[in-house]
Amino acid sequence: MANKELKLKVEHLTVSFRTTQGMVRAVRDVSFDLYQGDTLAIVGESGSGKSVTSRAIMGILAGNGVIDGGKIMYEGLDLTKVDEEHFHEIRGKKIGMIFQDPMSSLNPIMKIGYQITEGMILNGKRLKNRYKSLFNRSRTRYNELRRLIKASDLEYKQGAADAKGAKLQKEIDDLNVKLEKTLREIVSKDDRALLKQQYAEKIAALKAQIVAMRQTAPDIIRELKSKNVSEKADMKKDLVVAKADLARDKAAAKKTVDAEWAAEKAKAQEDIDRLKANILPDMDKAAKAKVYAEIAERREALARTKHVTKREAYERAIKVMKEVGIPNAERRFNQYPFQFSGGMRQRIVIAIALTADPDVLICDEPTTALDVTIQSQILELINRLKAERGLTVMFITHDMGVVANMSNRIAVMYAGKIVEIGNTDEIFYEPRHPYTWALLGSMPDLDSKERLIAISGTPPNMLFPPKGDAFAERSEYAMAIDFEEEPPMFKVSDTHYAATWLLHPNAPQVAIPSVVQDRIQRMLARVKEVSKP
Ligand SMILES: Nc1ncnc2c1ncn2[C@@H]1O[C@H](COP(=O)(O)OP(=O)(O)OP(=O)(O)O)[C@@H](O)[C@H]1O
Ligand SMILES: [Mg+2]
Repeated sequence: MANKELKLKVEHLTVSFRTTQGMVRAVRDVSFDLYQGDTLAIVGESGSGKSVTSRAIMGILAGNGVIDGGKIMYEGLDLTKVDEEHFHEIRGKKIGMIFQDPMSSLNPIMKIGYQITEGMILNGKRLKNRYKSLFNRSRTRYNELRRLIKASDLEYKQGAADAKGAKLQKEIDDLNVKLEKTLREIVSKDDRALLKQQYAEKIAALKAQIVAMRQTAPDIIRELKSKNVSEKADMKKDLVVAKADLARDKAAAKKTVDAEWAAEKAKAQEDIDRLKANILPDMDKAAKAKVYAEIAERREALARTKHVTKREAYERAIKVMKEVGIPNAERRFNQYPFQFSGGMRQRIVIAIALTADPDVLICDEPTTALDVTIQSQILELINRLKAERGLTVMFITHDMGVVANMSNRIAVMYAGKIVEIGNTDEIFYEPRHPYTWALLGSMPDLDSKERLIAISGTPPNMLFPPKGDAFAERSEYAMAIDFEEEPPMFKVSDTHYAATWLLHPNAPQVAIPSVVQDRIQRMLARVKEVSKP
C-alpha cells in the first residue's frame, strides 16, 4: 500500500444537523484513507452516516448540516475549508458522485442530451468566467459612476420641468380627466354647469400659479444646471480614471488567463510526453494501444477546459453514452428521462459524472433502486469504467453481498462511526467487531435470497448518541465497559482495525458465531465461482 498514491484522506470528520429537536450527530470522528485505484466500500445499516460522509466530501450537505470538525484532504487541499467559488473546480470535476435514485439526479423535463452536455459547456465557460472575475471590481466601479452621472442628469431634467410647472400642469390634466368622468355621471343640467364652473376656477388658479412660476423658473433652472455640472465634473474625472483602470485590468486579466491556459496546456503536454516515453519498441500492440488511448484522453481532458462548441459537446456526449453502454446513442440523445428504463437512467447519470473526467467516483447505493439483473449489469459497468479510466471508487451500500466483488477495502459504519476497517479479505475472513458479524450474518442468502439472521433491535437515535460502544445495546457480546467507555481502534494488522473492547488483551476470547462463519464460507465460495473467468 505504501507505494500507492493517497487520493483522499478523511481525518476525524464530524458532522451534525441542526433540527428542532436538537443536534443530530450524524458522523462522529470518521477517518479513512482512499488510495489511487482502490475501491473502498462503506457498509452499514440505514442511518449509519454513509451518505452524510460522502455528501460532506462532495460539499453538498443539506442546509442544516455543519461540519463540526475534521479535515477532508484532497490533493493538499482541505475540502472543509474550500469556499463555494473554488469548490466547483473539485466537485463534479475531480470527484464525481452518483446516487441511489437516478431520477432524482436527472431533470425530468429536459432532454438527456442537454443534461449530458450541460456540464461540458459550463466547464468551457470556466476560463471566460475566470477572466471576467479578474476585473470585476473595476468594472463595477466604472458602471457605478456611469449610473451616478445618469442619475444626476435625470435629477436636473426633472427639477427643470418642475420649475416650469410640470407638476401643476399634471394636476390640471388630472382635474380635466376627473371632470369629464364626473360629468358623465351627473344628469341634472344645473348641477353640471355648477361643477364645470368649480373646476374652471380651480384650473384657472393653477394656471396663474404656473405663470407666476415661469418668472422664477430660469433662475432655478440655472442653479440646478450648475449643481448638475459641478456634480458631474468630479464624477467625469473619476469616470476617466475608472475607464482607464478597467482597460488596464482587462488587459491584465487577459494576460493572467492566457498564462494560466498556457500553463494548463504545458502541463498536459508534459503528461503526454511522459506517456509517450512509456511506449517502448518491444511493447505489444495492446499495451501500445492502451498508452495511445491514455494520450487521447489527456488531450480530450485539456480540450474540455477550453471553450466547447455545441458540436464538440454533442460528439463527446455520444462517445460517453456509448462508453456506458447506451445503445442507439444518437437517437437517445434527444429523448427525455421517462423514455429510459431504470438501468438506462443510471447509465445516463454515470455518463454525466464521467463527462468531467473525475479521478474519484463516489457511488451512493447506485443499484438499490434497480432489480437484481440490472443491478449486476451496473456493478459490472462501474468495475469496467474503474479499470479503463483508472478511477478510485468509494462504494456505499448496506448490502454486504455486493461488496465482495466490488471492493478491496471495506469500512463498516455504525451510528456515525467507523467500527471496523480493513482489506476485503480481512473483513470477510477475520471480522472482529460484533456489528460486522451481525452484518455478515444478515447477508441475503444467494440461493434463497432470504436473510439468515436479522440484526435484532434498532440503531440508536443520533440526537442522543449512546455512551461507550454504540452497538452494545444490540450485542450479545457486550461487556460492562461497552456501556461506559468508547472503545479505541484496536490494531488487528497494518491494514485492519476494529473499535471493540473484545480486542483488548484482557477481554474474554470470543469466536465468530459459527452460523456467521458458515454463511461467510458459503458466500465466498459462491463469489469465487461467479467471478471465475
Ligand atoms: N438534513 C438532515 N437533517 C437532519 N438529520 C439528517 C439530515 N440528513 C441526514 N440526517 C441524519 O443523519 C444520519 C445519517 O444519515 P445518512 O443519510 O448518512 O445515513 P445512511 O447511512 O446513508 O443511510 P441509508 O442507508 O438509509 O442511506 C441519520 O440519522 C439521518 O437521519
Ligand atoms: Mg444513504
